[in-house]
Amino acid sequence: MFVLGLQGSPRKKGNTRFLLSAFLEESRRLGANTQMIEVCQKKIDPCMEYVLCEKKGICPIDDDMKHEIYPLLRKADVIVTATPIFFYNTTAQLKALIDRSQTLWARKYKLHLTDPNRKWRRGYTLAVGATRGKNLFDGLHLTMKYFYDAVGAEYVGSLTYREIEKPGDMERHATLRDDVQAAVATLLEPFQGRKKILFTCRENACLSQMAGAFAQILAGDKLDVLTAGSQPAEKLNPLMVEAMQEKGIDMGFRQTASINAVLTTEKPGLIISMGRDDTAVVLDGIPRELWNFTAPEDLNAARRVRDAIEARVAEFIKGMA
Ligand SMILES: Cc1cc2nc3c(=O)[nH]c(=O)nc-3n(C[C@H](O)[C@H](O)[C@H](O)COP(=O)(O)O)c2cc1C
Repeated sequence: MFVLGLQGSPRKKGNTRFLLSAFLEESRRLGANTQMIEVCQKKIDPCMEYVLCEKKGICPIDDDMKHEIYPLLRKADVIVTATPIFFYNTTAQLKALIDRSQTLWARKYKLHLTDPNRKWRRGYTLAVGATRGKNLFDGLHLTMKYFYDAVGAEYVGSLTYREIEKPGDMERHATLRDDVQAAVATLLEPFQGRKKILFTCRENACLSQMAGAFAQILAGDKLDVLTAGSQPAEKLNPLMVEAMQEKGIDMGFRQTASINAVLTTEKPGLIISMGRDDTAVVLDGIPRELWNFTAPEDLNAARRVRDAIEARVAEFIKGMA
């Protein structure tokens, strides 16, 4: 279970940061891996309406959004967006990130691609504002509703605080701890008790990526899916991406990872080796299965292996039940 926190305040010791830190700490206590992105320290240019996203599903702007944030938004099971209210909405830095999620919107609504984790991912909002106005968070909620829709997450709730102005105000808030505890328990509840499975192959560019995607699509509510390779490639195999795309499955912005790196933070209950080349990796104590697929050499082979993996994953899930 991976919880991504987007910290939208420019203040390093501000109220938003304190609130999000408490939220992520509680998430870790309940078993999540977490990462906080300091949005104001990232290079995220505003959307320039190049509209390439609507044609090709990519944004030509070369910045942290492309290299770091899109992949994290895809990887997350839960996205927690935290912001101070600036003029009834998010900070400008966070708004730039939100506007750039238009690329993910375009992949969903223009290219009709489905991110494998979309059905299960959840979005949550944290916000603070100095004043007491009844409508203080209305603008933010609307923005967040469409942000979460674009990135493929269900907007399930928020914690918002009025009359929070100076650094330290949030820390002194009487109900903060109880609020966070209750909110995180409810938010993470669907992810508790999922079986953690790691799919591996040599490069983590093709077979294990396909298996991971099908496992998420078919049983993301029961499986916490990880993928990795013994010698991870730099990029996904384009044949795999194309073959999956033909079925409407969006593999965009997924990254490869090394088995050793994944195992430093994750303890899978089962490892499934997809090919023959990663069998040398030592994985002590964790049960293993070998599925023996062969990486495809051309698009037709990629289509065949895609369908065979889908069937094998479906059979595996049936067996679990
Ligand atoms: C540029 C700017 C605009 C703001 N606009 C609002 C606003 O519209 N409504 C409000 O209640 N507070 C507003 N505030 C106050 C902040 O929301 C408040 O101080 C908050 O606690 C800051 O959170 P932080 O410590 O996480 O940065 C504004 C502050 C700034 C600097």
